[in-house]
Amino acid sequence: MEKVVVLITGCSSGIGLGLAVRLASDASHRFKVYATMRNLSKKERLLESVQDCHADTLEILQLDIVDPLSLAAATQRIREQRVDVLVCNAVVGLMGPLETYSYQAMKNIFDINLFGTISTIQTFLPGMKQRKAGKIIVSSSVGGLQGVPFNSAYCASKFAVEGLCESLAIVLQEFNVHISLIECGPVNTSFLTNLQSTDPEGSTLQGLDPETHGLYRRYIQHCQGLFRDVAQDTEEVIQVFLEAIQAPHPPLRYFTTQFFMPFTKLKLSCPDGSEYVRAMHKFVFSGAHA
Ligand SMILES: NC(=O)c1ccc[n+]([C@@H]2O[C@H](COP(=O)([O-])OP(=O)(O)OC[C@H]3O[C@@H](n4cnc5c(N)ncnc54)[C@H](OP(=O)(O)O)[C@@H]3O)[C@@H](O)[C@H]2O)c1
Repeated sequence: MEKVVVLITGCSSGIGLGLAVRLASDASHRFKVYATMRNLSKKERLLESVQDCHADTLEILQLDIVDPLSLAAATQRIREQRVDVLVCNAVVGLMGPLETYSYQAMKNIFDINLFGTISTIQTFLPGMKQRKAGKIIVSSSVGGLQGVPFNSAYCASKFAVEGLCESLAIVLQEFNVHISLIECGPVNTSFLTNLQSTDPEGSTLQGLDPETHGLYRRYIQHCQGLFRDVAQDTEEVIQVFLEAIQAPHPPLRYFTTQFFMPFTKLKLSCPDGSEYVRAMHKFVFSGAHA
């Protein structure tokens, strides 16, 4: 039987790495996985994780989603000359008070999280439309559905990706191409250590007003508590990706956790946003997750 060709971005760590390993190790060898990463010197972790020889189910390719030449080169290396399932997973985070973000840091976030995702979809979408078949799975976040304090630029980039996918989904209905967002809460990956964050004790905050400084310190404590108490294991989240990959008609959104659903629902029950803002303020700054 012909294998399902899956291309995943951002496989050097975290969810991308875990998903690549899971699909390449599938007992019935149903998938051919192109696990891509921008820096091939990081491929050892993936190779160690797959352990056995997966010559027929796994290939590792260099792919930097913000580099058009890299995208073109990776496309050329796909032997089957098609991608059945595209997983847009590569991302960078940015955390800190808005006043401390450099223009370059914000541009980087949008270049990777939004424009890199768009370029990747643009590369593989024409083939899917032509074949009238395909799935695009996008790693998203509760931070793409609701604002999270001190994550304003990251959330803005993820909100943009939500708008991108929701808009595309309507047109893609005509082509039997399905686009799905996987809405993750905190997941035990290297995301927190990989993200660019403002050190709450560092010099960048010197000019900041003391009140915002104090709130940021409290947010960091809340965030650490949240990851300690409610973060999901990568395996649990990967199950949701598998569900989307295998569903004949996957919906636009999958939620890996119900934990944030009461907040998400507030956007609908109180469209002017005031209840959400109050509830999230209480959740973050009341000390429950510190
Ligand atoms: N972990 C969480 O708590 C959490 C929560 C909500 C949503 N998510 C979502 O889950 C997805 C995966 O995150 P993760 O937790 O697995 O984080 P991660 O371990 O930090 O992985 C991010 C991956 O993206 C790659 N990447 C960054 N820029 C790239 C570029 N220009 N081209 C190609 N690859 C690039 C990184 O490669 P390098 O190693 O080269 O930097 C890394 O492989 C993201 O979309 C994120 O928004 C995660």
